[in-house]
Amino acid sequence: MSAFKVVAAVGFFAAVLLGTASAQSQNAPAGDAAHGRVVFLKEACFTCHGRVGEGGAYNGPAPVLARTALPFEGFQAQIRNPVNDMPAYSDAVLSDKDIADIYAFVKSLPGPRSPKDFPILNN
Ligand code: HEC
Repeated sequence: MSAFKVVAAVGFFAAVLLGTASAQSQNAPAGDAAHGRVVFLKEACFTCHGRVGEGGAYNGPAPVLARTALPFEGFQAQIRNPVNDMPAYSDAVLSDKDIADIYAFVKSLPGPRSPKDFPILNN
């Protein structure tokens, strides 16, 4: 193999590896938002976080989940090992697939509307 071919091959594999690594850290697993909604209601996430992920309270604020800015890894880590008062959900209760589905569901929620959308607030 010529030196050029070796350099080209190494560059190609590096590009493939880098491409894969960045795709993995940015893309959540494909989730089924409709099933995520079912699990979100069945596993009682809504009792603290609201039926449309609008947030609520439990010994303090239970954060808004609609359109979460958390990456999937952080979202899942909170569910498995909550940072504070939220109950933990082990994989015996909630599979990784269920979490991916919930993530797709909360990402699909519209979140709060802008005050500009309410004519009475713009008089
Ligand atoms: C008993 C109330 C309660 C239930 C039920 C609950 N949570 Fe939470 N959740 C909280 C509280 C309180 C926090 C704030 C952090 C903490 O206390 O651990 C939180 C934090 C989170 C966060 C971090 C959000 C952020 O932006 O920081 C995610 C994600 C989350 N919950 C998802 C879920 C999901 C999904 C379910 C259902 C499987 C669920 N929670 C069920 C109370 C709850």
